[in-house]
Amino acid sequence: MFFLALLVEFTKKYGQQHLTVFFEIVFFLSKAVKTKIDFHHYRNAKIDFSIRKFKKMCKQYFLQEKPLAHIVKYTKFCDLNFFVNKKVLAPRENTEKMTWDFIHHFQKLKNRNVVDLCCGCGAIGLSIKKYLPTFQIDCIDKYIRPIINTKLNAHKLKVKIKIVKANVFKYLSKQKKLDLIISNPPYINKMTFTNKKMLRWESKRALFAKNKGYAFYDYFFSWLKNHSFQQCWLEYGFEQKQTLKKKLKKISNLKFNFKKNNYVIIEHQ
Ligand SMILES: C[S@@+](CC[C@H](N)C(=O)[O-])C[C@H]1O[C@@H](n2cnc3c(N)ncnc32)[C@H](O)[C@@H]1O
Repeated sequence: MFFLALLVEFTKKYGQQHLTVFFEIVFFLSKAVKTKIDFHHYRNAKIDFSIRKFKKMCKQYFLQEKPLAHIVKYTKFCDLNFFVNKKVLAPRENTEKMTWDFIHHFQKLKNRNVVDLCCGCGAIGLSIKKYLPTFQIDCIDKYIRPIINTKLNAHKLKVKIKIVKANVFKYLSKQKKLDLIISNPPYINKMTFTNKKMLRWESKRALFAKNKGYAFYDYFFSWLKNHSFQQCWLEYGFEQKQTLKKKLKKISNLKFNFKKNNYVIIEHQ
């Protein structure tokens, strides 16, 4: 099979709109073709990888909903390349939007301290460091796989940040004050979750939170209420906005601003 024939077969089956998937899988499998320019050059050459592997990966993506980041082991986030290890959450589009907004919002400031709570592969904290290099970043995660993954990405991106393996509840209980906080914590209610396919690829630890999905927010809010910080940016689940609003309204010394793309900015009044 030739590269061009493979492309024709793929678009017939899955449509033109999924060309990104085609190219990412080809770049991952092929030794010779790593860019679209390479593809053009080799279009009439025989493919240099197993067609079975290629088809299996397409099936995983289109039928089994495996995230592309887990198929090709990396993803683009804030225009940077991040490796994503098995069972580490593949960063999502909303998180990327929140991170871009954060970077643009603080771009005129220097030397601030940021903690990225529940860092996963480090996409939020490392992107902030890359674009705001005078900022000090601490990335926190409870589990070893995300910690190793964040260390690998820090090394590849050539940035120095602090990476701490800790339970955020314990970590926060030891902090007297913080400067800037950003987090995309686990927030899914296990009892109402039905997407079994997602569970096959993503770690339950990255997804589910106790208290119907609110355990992290409840703890964060009580910490924010009682401590000094400049701003806290939190991503939340699609249907959690009204409940979070109610919870925040009860805390008289905090003001909040819900943004599109499912995140909220919290400050002291
Ligand atoms: C939704 S994922 C977010 C990952 C990353 N911030 C992102 O947006 O791609 C949540 C992360 O929280 C971590 N985590 C779960 N419970 C934790 C805890 N108690 N303390 C610290 N990290 C925790 C998981 O390992 C996972 O990496």
